[in-house]
Amino acid sequence: MIIARTKEELNRYLKLVRTAKKTIGFVPTMGALHKGHLSLIKCSNAENNFTLVSIFVNPAQFNNPDDLNKYPRNETVDLDLLTSESCDIVFIPEVDEMYPEEDKRIFDFNGIDEVMEGKFRKGHFNGVAQIVSKLFEIVRPNKAYFGRKDFQQVAIINYLNKNYLPELGIDIVSCNIIREDDGLAMSSRNQLLSVSERQSAALISQTLKKYARNFSEYSVEELRNKITDEINLDKNLEVEYIDIVDDENLQTVSEIISGKTTICAAVYDGTVRLIDNIAIS
Ligand code: PAF
Repeated sequence: MIIARTKEELNRYLKLVRTAKKTIGFVPTMGALHKGHLSLIKCSNAENNFTLVSIFVNPAQFNNPDDLNKYPRNETVDLDLLTSESCDIVFIPEVDEMYPEEDKRIFDFNGIDEVMEGKFRKGHFNGVAQIVSKLFEIVRPNKAYFGRKDFQQVAIINYLNKNYLPELGIDIVSCNIIREDDGLAMSSRNQLLSVSERQSAALISQTLKKYARNFSEYSVEELRNKITDEINLDKNLEVEYIDIVDDENLQTVSEIISGKTTICAAVYDGTVRLIDNIAIS
């Protein structure tokens, strides 16, 4: 596996790949890799000749400096995992390499950035768009892979790709959420949970699943309240939001339509903020 730390190094390798007419699959990450990331790499390997993973903890998408400082980082373990997953190139730039000067671009997402994560993490999606657009322009992959745990992020990336970067012709592939045996959605942040918080964390997906199954017994408001109350019963957990949204425009629905509605959650488990979602089918 090739390790590139600068755009120049990366471009040198990518030139060879493009000359050989190989297709490039791209998996952008912030490191602290887990089985969710590895499933994206597997998908990319199956659908492309060549897989490139980036590891970059992007300061622009953190609205809370403490969250940025605490974000787990473990390059040595990540490199071992990438080698065993047959990743071809990993790009690990420093902050100055990606932001040689301040990025002042402001993206307009037609409101899909204003709900849920966007409401509670001001500027988060603008920061995601800044880094993903830079990475897309450098890598120019055929396909890019994102996990559906970040349901709203996938919608933002699709919007960015379609409306701001159409000339790159990238296919965005969203992949299933990978879960632990007890249902907890895999996330780099899970590493930050204490033993007791880790036990509590399973209740988030279990509650979402239970109410997604029985959605027809309740109004949207009742459903939201039931899920919130049940999760909040656990001493470690505190719901930040439960939203029940339309899959297309991400706005709160007044009526649930199976196949077109998703229940989304952000929950504090101690000081660790976890997100999850479940499609109503
Ligand atoms: O999902 C993530 O890990 C990040 O938001 C991403 C897409 C790598 C951008 O920094």
